[in-house]
Amino acid sequence: MNILNTLFFVAVVGILADATLGASWSYGDISAWATNYATCATQQQSPIDIVHDDAIVDTTLGDFTHALFDAPPQTMTIKNPGYTVQIDLTGGYTIDDPSLLPGVFKAAQFHLHWGNSSSAGSEHLFNGNQYWGELHIVHYNTKYPDLGTAANESDGLAVLGFFITKDYPQDNTAVQRMIQPLTEDRVNYNSESESYTTTFSMETFLPNNISVYYRYQGSLTTPPCYESVMWTVFSEPIRISTAQANIFETRIFSADRGTSNPDLVNNNYRPAQPLNGRTVFRSTQCSGTGSFSMPTFHFVALCATVIGLIIVR
Ligand SMILES: *[C@@H]1O[C@H](CO)[C@@H](O)[C@H](O)[C@H]1NC(C)=O
Ligand SMILES: *[C@@H]1O[C@H](CO)[C@@H](O)[C@H](O)[C@H]1NC(C)=O
Ligand SMILES: *[C@@H]1O[C@H](CO)[C@@H](O)[C@H](O)[C@H]1NC(C)=O
Ligand SMILES: [Zn+2]
Repeated sequence: MNILNTLFFVAVVGILADATLGASWSYGDISAWATNYATCATQQQSPIDIVHDDAIVDTTLGDFTHALFDAPPQTMTIKNPGYTVQIDLTGGYTIDDPSLLPGVFKAAQFHLHWGNSSSAGSEHLFNGNQYWGELHIVHYNTKYPDLGTAANESDGLAVLGFFITKDYPQDNTAVQRMIQPLTEDRVNYNSESESYTTTFSMETFLPNNISVYYRYQGSLTTPPCYESVMWTVFSEPIRISTAQANIFETRIFSADRGTSNPDLVNNNYRPAQPLNGRTVFRSTQCSGTGSFSMPTFHFVALCATVIGLIIVR
């Protein structure tokens, strides 16, 4: 059983706290999203396939540093809204650097998309490849009062996306702390939630190298698909163990606790959408061109070639 047969009749839709009462959508019938949510069929939708060779270097893009993510939020609440695992933040860090984001953006929540034991589930593709999963940190522009208001404004949201692989030889300790309420079966069913007694910073999750990233203008990847998101997708993935991936793949349900044969939440991703003439930009650092399709020495070589050309000239 999986999510594909489940309709979400939910008040909590996508990343919004309070939108679209009474409407429904499911990952089993993505082509029908536009029936109730017309924006899902418009021209700047997400996710997309990010193709390194087609991305334009934007020299005005700065470096994200780990220090930006150091401050732990005031409170963190993990919840199961029936289609993902989401951690809501109060007092999240802000990013206030015009070389990174056009405005002051505050972290409000993060959530994940994933596959199953045999099939990948990231939303963005990278050079045509799909990763096992993807983490999204959702920020809103503080010129708006809250996430719900910002979500329908063209400059309202900034989402940082990190691919996830399940090839780490040991448990990722930050992810283990995050999923403890799941490993102990307390928030595994629809509408369950729990606050962490101790909060922890986003910095603990991040991959080592966050200076290589891609940037484009797009949308929410769930209904109502508002085109309000400045996307930043990082090249280096977060790595978790297969045992940790297995928790996501087999122990999270879209139904209420007590339901017999509850559907699993997995394969909770939207397929890549057409670019429709949009430009994908990239940061100036030399880039990894796909950690699982190409070994490390290839992109080291790519950087060396570029440096070589500069020296020759
Ligand atoms: C994983 O998902 C794929 C794609 O939907 C499906 O074909 C496959 O049967 C699933 N595997 C398991 C073990 O559920
Ligand atoms: C805001 O919502 C309206 C109605 O759904 C939609 O037409 C408009 O495109 C949305 N704005 C953005 C930025 O997506
Ligand atoms: C990140 O990786 C790129 C490409 O390998 C490299 O050029 C850059 O110096 C690295 N940055 C950091 C902070 O490690
Ligand atoms: Zn998402």
